[in-house]
Amino acid sequence: MKIIIYGNSDFAELMHYYFTVYSKYEVVAFCVDKEYINSKTFLNKPLIAFEDIKELYDIDNYQFFVAVGYKNMRARKLLYEKVKAKGYKFVSFISPKANVDESNIIGDNNAILHNAVLEPFAKVGNNNIINTNSIICHHAEIFNDCFIAANSLIGGFTKVKNNCFIGFSSTILQKLVIEDETLIAAGTLMPNDSKKYTMYAGIPAKVKSTHQDNGIQLKG
Ligand SMILES: CC(C)(COP(=O)(O)OP(=O)(O)OC[C@H]1O[C@@H](n2cnc3c(N)ncnc32)[C@H](O)[C@@H]1OP(=O)(O)O)[C@@H](O)C(=O)NCCC(=O)NCCS
Repeated sequence: MKIIIYGNSDFAELMHYYFTVYSKYEVVAFCVDKEYINSKTFLNKPLIAFEDIKELYDIDNYQFFVAVGYKNMRARKLLYEKVKAKGYKFVSFISPKANVDESNIIGDNNAILHNAVLEPFAKVGNNNIINTNSIICHHAEIFNDCFIAANSLIGGFTKVKNNCFIGFSSTILQKLVIEDETLIAAGTLMPNDSKKYTMYAGIPAKVKSTHQDNGIQLKG
């Protein structure tokens, strides 16, 4: 199966590596919006303007993976929707070194990286990045467009709603609701539900700021 990666950043490079070494998918090209084209190729593969992609790679024979990092979380979501609107289907990358259960329900354009664990009955929507060594406990649910950094733990039955960022080594206790666009700083212990558009940090978590106007934006 041939795929195109949207992106030409370090995260796109990483996903190219994962797909090439650890999946059955062949990355045939990269693509970004015309204004971000800075070369004819990326990693020795064609770098195509998104505006021209359909003429060169038809939707019946090529699928997409949108590989955009966490710096602007709303942008990640918008790019996924833009590719979907063109009619392309997406693939997920599920590392063969991840521990995924037969009972898990997993949507499209997800990256589930090495040593991530999805316990039985956990569900993952679309366009989520679940990094190395994260644990999604039984019956937990990750909605869409979330970034879960390495070594995070999401407790059983907890729901992480849309476009959330969970920092390195965070622990979210069981049976909680993490509302849309919650930002959880690295190393935080979340003992309670969160409020939308709110940043939490510390052990136990305290509210630090809100970001309703611009969504979650992080420095690299
Ligand atoms: C949350 C984060 C993005 C910083 O955001 P920020 O808006 O720039 O926050 P600031 O540095 O201005 O800090 C704001 C407050 O939160 C506190 N804070 C920030 N990060 C914290 C953390 N990880 N743990 C505890 N407190 C933290 C600061 O001490 C400060 O507290 P104060 O207002 O009481 O003095 C950053 O600390 C972080 O955790 N990034 C995630 C890293 C990560 O997981 N990357 C994954 C890459 S794969």
